Amino acid sequence: MNLKRELIESIDGRIFVGVLCFIAIMILVGWIAINEAARMTAFEGQYLARSIERGATMFNTNCSTCHGIDGRGLTGRAPALNSPYLFGFNYLADVDRQIAALQTEAANSATTDARKAEIETETAALNAERDAIIASLQPAVDKGYNPEEPSRLKNLGWGGTLRSFVETTIISGRPPSESYWPQPMAAWSQTAGGPLRMDQIEDLTNYILNWNIGDAWTVEDANAVNQFPIVPVDPSTVVSSDVQTIGVNTEMPTIMENLATVTGDPQNGQVMYNGALACAGCHMTAAVAPLMEGTMTRVTDIRLQQPENAGMTAEEFLATSITHPNAYVTPGYPASVMPQNFADRLTYQDLADLIAFLETQDQPLPPQ
Ligand code: HEC
Ligand code: HEC
Repeated sequence: MNLKRELIESIDGRIFVGVLCFIAIMILVGWIAINEAARMTAFEGQYLARSIERGATMFNTNCSTCHGIDGRGLTGRAPALNSPYLFGFNYLADVDRQIAALQTEAANSATTDARKAEIETETAALNAERDAIIASLQPAVDKGYNPEEPSRLKNLGWGGTLRSFVETTIISGRPPSESYWPQPMAAWSQTAGGPLRMDQIEDLTNYILNWNIGDAWTVEDANAVNQFPIVPVDPSTVVSSDVQTIGVNTEMPTIMENLATVTGDPQNGQVMYNGALACAGCHMTAAVAPLMEGTMTRVTDIRLQQPENAGMTAEEFLATSITHPNAYVTPGYPASVMPQNFADRLTYQDLADLIAFLETQDQPLPPQ
């Protein structure tokens, strides 16, 4: 019998090594337990990063044709998702908070008259700052953005989270958007007949939400948006009894007579054209409707030269096109696609504003 085969000969030595090993194991287990939370967070971070990466690839192949490679939307095609508006960033929040605080102070009976006078000056300065912020956002305002109503979700009355808004939009699409965009937002999930699995939709959602930069949104970000969402106008909600709209049954001579009493504001016309009235939704894609660019040139050089429009002014042609679209149907386009009820939705001032805007579209026409 070979009694020398053990590594450690004495029984005391063996007990000592055993105890040492036990302590080492306990320290190791303790160390892992302490670091588990950090390891899990790091793991989740990696998981999210990979999901965002997969989402980015899918976005480029499936969504960028309408929403733009950078997610800033494509004019006349689909709204921006990489936009302070989707994430509800309020450029005026900070200054509004300060103004409200001053007002509270002024309303307090303990505030002295001297302090009240100071508050008035401070409020005036803050209001000037507020106006300057709005002015700096003018390019976005021209595209239909309203700094006073900065949240897409609030404006839609969406009660849920942004994540659920994005996810459900991708899952089931927005079939009704067909009526105010050249092509609607389709349903993408397999459960709704689309091509994408739920995990892929999750990746896309993570990618879109990753555009949120919290408080770091800049004025440039808003101004870089190519297209803001269009709010389709429901005539029953906008026409209040004290607003006198033109009315679809009003004849052209009467319309022209009343139109002569108002002066159009092209800026406001542009805002309505791109925003509330959603004219741009159709008129920015030549396949859907005659392009907005060059409208005025086309009217004077082509439309008014046609015998059926002889003797018409450009203003009359435009007013007719908007209030009685089927009276003259642009060659190459179908009748009755352009909504027939704008006269019920517009006041004379609105119509004058729209015409004033369209009259600025006098770019040379592209060669046919
Ligand atoms: C054919 C063009 C088109 C494609 C392709 C498209 N979309 Fe859209 N999408 C739209 C339009 C148009 C809207 C606006 C719908 C509306 O106004 O209700 C929209 C709206 C959205 C919205 C809601 C934005 C908002 O403010 O209401 C999300 C989110 C969205 N799309 C995500 C995607 C994703 C993700 C993909 C790719 C899987 C995609 N879209 C592909 C046209 C498109
Ligand atoms: C649903 C799509 C759609 C919307 C929304 C729409 N249009 Fe049109 N529009 C058309 C189509 C299609 C035509 C060409 C056929 C026709 O003459 O009706 C047209 C024709 C016109 C023309 C004549 C252009 C030319 O070169 O002959 C003008 C002007 C016009 N639209 C202005 C507007 C204005 C202003 C608005 C918003 C108040 C608007 N459209 C909203 C589809 C639309």
